[in-house]
Amino acid sequence: MKAIVYERYGPPDVLQFKDVEKPTPKDDEVLIKVYAASVNAYDWHFLTADIFLIRLMGGGLLKPKNTRLGADIAGRVEAVGRNAKQFQPGDEVFGDMAGHGNGSFAEYVSASESAFALKPANLSFDEAAAVPMAAVTALQGLRDEGQIHRGQKVLINGASGGVGTFAVQIAKSFGAEVTAVCSTRNLDQARSLGADHVIDYTKEDFTQSGQQYDLILAANGYHSLSAYKRALTPKGVYVMAGGSMAQIFEAMLLGSWMSKTGGKKMGGVSAKPNQEVLAFMKGLLEAGKVVPVIDRRYPLSETAEALRYLGEGHARGKVVITVEDRSSPGTGE
Ligand SMILES: NC(=O)c1ccc[n+]([C@@H]2O[C@H](COP(=O)([O-])OP(=O)(O)OC[C@H]3O[C@@H](n4cnc5c(N)ncnc54)[C@H](OP(=O)(O)O)[C@@H]3O)[C@@H](O)[C@H]2O)c1
Repeated sequence: MKAIVYERYGPPDVLQFKDVEKPTPKDDEVLIKVYAASVNAYDWHFLTADIFLIRLMGGGLLKPKNTRLGADIAGRVEAVGRNAKQFQPGDEVFGDMAGHGNGSFAEYVSASESAFALKPANLSFDEAAAVPMAAVTALQGLRDEGQIHRGQKVLINGASGGVGTFAVQIAKSFGAEVTAVCSTRNLDQARSLGADHVIDYTKEDFTQSGQQYDLILAANGYHSLSAYKRALTPKGVYVMAGGSMAQIFEAMLLGSWMSKTGGKKMGGVSAKPNQEVLAFMKGLLEAGKVVPVIDRRYPLSETAEALRYLGEGHARGKVVITVEDRSSPGTGE
């Protein structure tokens, strides 16, 4: 089968599109024929090892230990291992292979069935592959860390990328009043996703406006922790999902210390994909409360181009990899 393989850390040029052995499922695994995948900053970090911790935390000190990339996936179950009981051959699934060996940039994967859930019936494979990592980050940031509830004023900083486009819609589905922060060209997109208010970060710094929010999810864009704290209501919660290295270290080093005084909570989210969150997202997607926003699609052979585009930092929604030959039947398109 064809797969994307990398043998050294580096820019997308180090990716090779080559023949590798088709996997066979172990007892607790399912073999999936991949129809679509999508790219995330997660893949970028494993590709480039730009975060040195990746090398120390099992990624491989000098070169990648695991030569395969790709977390988000949508496809069809082709075979099931002896002890895998949840799925049948033919089932359409989506999932996140982070924590399950990665490798969704390929024609087939084999992984524990716990990585997958049934695909939302109303979504194409491309749309379903856009969901897992970005939507789970947004959902766990807003619901689990942020304790979002109806009527709250919620601000999403970086509302136009993968995480942000899901976060705006998920926050609306919880009945929040949502303010989306993005650049001029993305204001209409944010409104169309349901944002009640939009702020153009190229013209206005929301942390200086005097407005306060019950919950802030920071998906992109840097502000100091003290600026975020200022923009929170007295019992407000700040959740950092992503941003610059400075922002990540600040949140890790100072967040819990700053939460000790007063009622405001400063924290972060680290996405933990599981079947519960995938099923929760399936419900929102099937109810039409959330719709994946796809910016671009690239064939599997051009995964390097897709990652290069993502790495520029200005994707509008998700960047999808189409794996199956689109002319063949059963792609759900
Ligand atoms: N914590 C976790 O478990 C977890 C999981 C997934 C992702 N993440 C992190 O979350 C972050 C967002 O991921 P993503 O998939 O949404 O990334 P993305 O899709 O690559 O984000 C691109 C978007 O960010 C916007 N943006 C860039 N600079 C901005 C700024 N200064 N202010 C506001 N928006 C800005 C861009 O809009 P413009 O073109 O208008 O600038 C673009 O639409 C990344 O840092 C990623 O590493 C964390």
